[in-house]
Amino acid sequence: MNSLKEIHLKIKFFWGSLFYFKYTPHALLYSRKRDNIERKFFKRSTEKGFNQPGKIIRTELTERGANFYFELAELQICFLTEDFVRVDWKPGIPPISYAIVQQDWQEVKTQLEEIENGFSISSAKLKVFVQEDGSLKFCDSSGQTLREELPPSRKSEGWLHQAKLRQEEQIYGLGERFSSLNLRAAKDEKQQPKTYRMWNYDAAGMYGPGSDPMYLCIPVYLSLYSSGSYLIFYENSFDANFTFGETAVADFEGGSLRYYFTYGVPAQLLERYTELTGRAALPPLWALGYHQSKWGYRTEEKIREEAQAFQDRNLPLSAIHLDIDCQVGNRAFTIDPDRFPKLGSFTQELKELGVQFIAILNPGIKYSRHSNLFLEGQILDGFCKLPNGKLVVAPVWPGWCVFPDFTNPKVRGWWSRQYQYLLDVGVAGFWHDMNEPAAFIAWGDRSLPKVTQHYMEGRGGDHREAHNVYGLLQAKAAYDSLCQYHPQQRPFLVSRAGWAGLQRYAWTWTGDVECTWVALRTTIATVVGLGLSGIPYSGPDIGGFQGNPSAELYLRWFQMATFFTFYRTHSSNNVEHRTPWTYGEPYLSIIRQFLELRYRLLPYFYTLSWEATQKGYPPVRPVFWSATDEPALWSVEDAFFLGDALLVCPIVEERARSRQVILPKGHWYNFWNDAVLKGSQQVTIEAPLEQIPLLVLAGSILPMEEKKQLILHIYPPVEGNSETLLYSDAGDGYGESRLDKFCMTRSENNLEITWTEEGKYPFAFISVSLHLHGIKPQQAWVDDKEVTCTGQILEFEDSEGLAIGNRFHKVRIQV
Ligand code: NOJ
Repeated sequence: MNSLKEIHLKIKFFWGSLFYFKYTPHALLYSRKRDNIERKFFKRSTEKGFNQPGKIIRTELTERGANFYFELAELQICFLTEDFVRVDWKPGIPPISYAIVQQDWQEVKTQLEEIENGFSISSAKLKVFVQEDGSLKFCDSSGQTLREELPPSRKSEGWLHQAKLRQEEQIYGLGERFSSLNLRAAKDEKQQPKTYRMWNYDAAGMYGPGSDPMYLCIPVYLSLYSSGSYLIFYENSFDANFTFGETAVADFEGGSLRYYFTYGVPAQLLERYTELTGRAALPPLWALGYHQSKWGYRTEEKIREEAQAFQDRNLPLSAIHLDIDCQVGNRAFTIDPDRFPKLGSFTQELKELGVQFIAILNPGIKYSRHSNLFLEGQILDGFCKLPNGKLVVAPVWPGWCVFPDFTNPKVRGWWSRQYQYLLDVGVAGFWHDMNEPAAFIAWGDRSLPKVTQHYMEGRGGDHREAHNVYGLLQAKAAYDSLCQYHPQQRPFLVSRAGWAGLQRYAWTWTGDVECTWVALRTTIATVVGLGLSGIPYSGPDIGGFQGNPSAELYLRWFQMATFFTFYRTHSSNNVEHRTPWTYGEPYLSIIRQFLELRYRLLPYFYTLSWEATQKGYPPVRPVFWSATDEPALWSVEDAFFLGDALLVCPIVEERARSRQVILPKGHWYNFWNDAVLKGSQQVTIEAPLEQIPLLVLAGSILPMEEKKQLILHIYPPVEGNSETLLYSDAGDGYGESRLDKFCMTRSENNLEITWTEEGKYPFAFISVSLHLHGIKPQQAWVDDKEVTCTGQILEFEDSEGLAIGNRFHKVRIQV
């Protein structure tokens, strides 16, 4: 780096850091105040716990299962479906169903039997043994043990729950984690199994290896072992610790012990879990494009220049995100009128360039009589309070802030109304930050005091329970608002914090990650883990948030993020301005190629989004997703699947120009040169700067779009048949849609593709062509008419060069 640039960066870092220091007195004061508050209002529970629930005294059959009355506890087992069961241990504060959408389940036949040492309650697919001492065993219909639980212990107001783990058992999920993909593999400083905390947490500017907890914790995990896999979701939002050593331990600070169990392959687990907690709605198509962001865009002029710079360089761009700099005094729902004098026409101007305007919002409201939001919220009595009725006041970006109590429906309604005028001037979506909720501190917990009181839908509760659902409920308020005020447009929201069910309302990003190679690599596990926790849309700040990545690191990060659902560059206010052209050539040209590839792949991404609405499958998947019987794949954390067709293997090391790839079973085409590789082996694949290893599963069709033309990239199966779906609609709104289905059959010298269609949305492409990979066509027939084959490309013209329409029923290719 030349020395002028270095000096410039140092000055930038210095000024940016001053921004943080400005809050130091607030942080010191607040930390002291918070500690005093906790001391003053803390009430030791008088509830006596127990180590074991005692013996079963009585049982009772219920409509969907049975109740078991122990000497010290009560257990309800309720079958939601034949393979999905809810287990409820009482006493304890029952959860409010913030996570749950599905309440009506079809009838399930169950049977209660008395056995030696206890009872069993079963459906046609699942049997739960309830032992005399309160231990539980879950078995499938063939009698194979799926999970064994020890009797739970009640600790004061919380619960300690343990399940046996097989030696080979792997654990994934728990929402957002910066750890190994298999959570059980990570160790703490003492080489003991790492403890994962359930407490949404602000990394405050930077996180890296060892950081836990993160912004978005979800008490759901998948367990995988050679003969199966299962999922557990604890419907308990209290602070908790999870550890996976000899046993899986879940240690909750409060609440009742309610959890859900299901088993099956990962796809079935996600389908069930999202049936319970809801699925992400289809995003507007533009949201799947590239987003540019920077903490530092202060003026309309700067944004205009940025959008123009993308155009000038021929780089596609779908959205620009505005950070707190665009606001007045960093306050929610403001945009500085001096710096954005004509917001309505400006957002329109951007839209004409195909660029959407996204605004940031923090939940903290300036504690001042000069703040309308403060006055309105006060009239509603809508802010979080201490047990003595005083407002909870803590420092965030606007200075001293109060916090809307989103557990109050009236407050959510009021908050919902605030989005309206920004929507009306063309703001296309919102980015919720600092909503763990975060507060600036000098020591201790970065949030509100645990004794903070919450409405909790009228039943009352404190921050120990409300903290983790705070961001979720803010997102709910926003989602309802966007649906209400702009009913013809699909909502676009990004939320840093959340809980189980956040997928129903918002996307997320992985926050203030450091700019290092380790961070790039670990981000794969973070995004995959979020997907396995039900959150299909996520992605990192490309290049990392804090620090200045080298050109190579930014490029490799960009290449990887091309295959994540949320594709956004963002960076801190004290680092070099970061865009696809920051590092000049050859980086700019390579990034342009990846951007173009992303946009060409949009039909594929969009179909995966549609699939997520139907089944809850995350588009970004672990490598073992469809091959849980291959233990070599269980801990692969430097590669991932995008859908079933694309295996993405990012470059995670500096100067690497090739890498090892473990191929799942099947056959794989190298995306860049069509070489066919046999699966179930480890191979080395070249990765010059222009490429990262990308493999396509034989039997796939990758639908790509170029200038309104549909190009079906055909990767023939080695033998047999396969099926590919393509979903399309208008890209926004709630109009008609269509589903095109392609079935491909390979026999010795023949490849046959049939096309069927469903739905009323008209076929939107002006033409279709087939690009054949790995085979040389000799002759081809489209709907029984012979057509010309030019190299690997099949366009729909007959032998005299006449177009025969833009669709077909059947294509037969002789190879
Ligand atoms: C913290 C967020 O994680 C970051 O993305 C944002 O730039 C800053 N807050 C400033 O708003």
